[in-house]
Amino acid sequence: MATYPELKGRVAVISGAAQGIGASTAREFAKQHAHLALIDIDEAAAQKVAAEIQGSGARAMVVRTDVTDDASVSNALAKVAAEYGGIDIVVNSAGGYGKLTSVEELPLDDWDKTVALNMRGTFLMCKRAIPYLKKSKAGRIINVSSISGRTLFGSTSPAYAASKAGVIQLTRFLAIELGPCGITANSIAPITTLTPRVRALRSEANIEQIASQIPLRRLPDPEDHANAMVFLASDSAAYLNGVALDINGGRILM
Ligand SMILES: NC(=O)c1ccc[n+]([C@@H]2O[C@H](COP(=O)([O-])OP(=O)(O)OC[C@H]3O[C@@H](n4cnc5c(N)ncnc54)[C@H](O)[C@@H]3O)[C@@H](O)[C@H]2O)c1
Repeated sequence: MATYPELKGRVAVISGAAQGIGASTAREFAKQHAHLALIDIDEAAAQKVAAEIQGSGARAMVVRTDVTDDASVSNALAKVAAEYGGIDIVVNSAGGYGKLTSVEELPLDDWDKTVALNMRGTFLMCKRAIPYLKKSKAGRIINVSSISGRTLFGSTSPAYAASKAGVIQLTRFLAIELGPCGITANSIAPITTLTPRVRALRSEANIEQIASQIPLRRLPDPEDHANAMVFLASDSAAYLNGVALDINGGRILM
């Protein structure tokens, strides 16, 4: 594990931190002795992750938050800043989709919900965090996009693919807007990762088929993404801005 001593005491807000990639990311930031705020709609699951982190000696708080709700996001960020004295890092991992489908089959309310979770949620978290990040010495925004937002190579959801492409472009916009304030904004684009949500969505055969097409011949672990995000938050990545970092084992080379 790489260590970044400068992350000690920096305040990292992580959405979708109750499970999957967000929870792994919270654990990796805790190993760097950052102060964690776990933002999730599933408070009970987030509390379990927080208890584990606190057990390791790091600070962690949970704020039940619906990232698609402006008041909920604003209140959560205000609570975090009041507790820790500011916000330095925002990781937006809350996201996903309901089912693999086509444009023709996708119900309109599914489109609306998926776009709201991935795009509106990311937008609100970034927008409401900006005033706090401007006061940080090393403000960082890290948005979790997807390989589906970079290209199309297999089954996914059209609402998901479109919204994850939007997350990358929003991140680039933020990079240009906030660069002059010393804040960087980058995204990561993971390939299929075996979190509980994805295990439920895909068959074993489908998972094996995806892995067989990856040059590294395995799907990533959530920690592969978490490690990249810790790096993006570190001073070592201070000059990376507006990047969409592909984490796909070489499956898609752009
Ligand atoms: N797992 C993959 O294969 C994969 C691949 C590429 C990108 N991603 C992206 O990575 C991110 C994390 O994926 P994951 O597989 O870990 O997901 P997950 O479903 O395991 O975790 C998502 C978390 O977000 C929370 N959440 C859902 N709606 C919310 C809301 N409105 N407000 C606050 N929290 C909410 C859930 O409670 C959950 O804890 C997502 O943005 C996803 O699109 C995942």
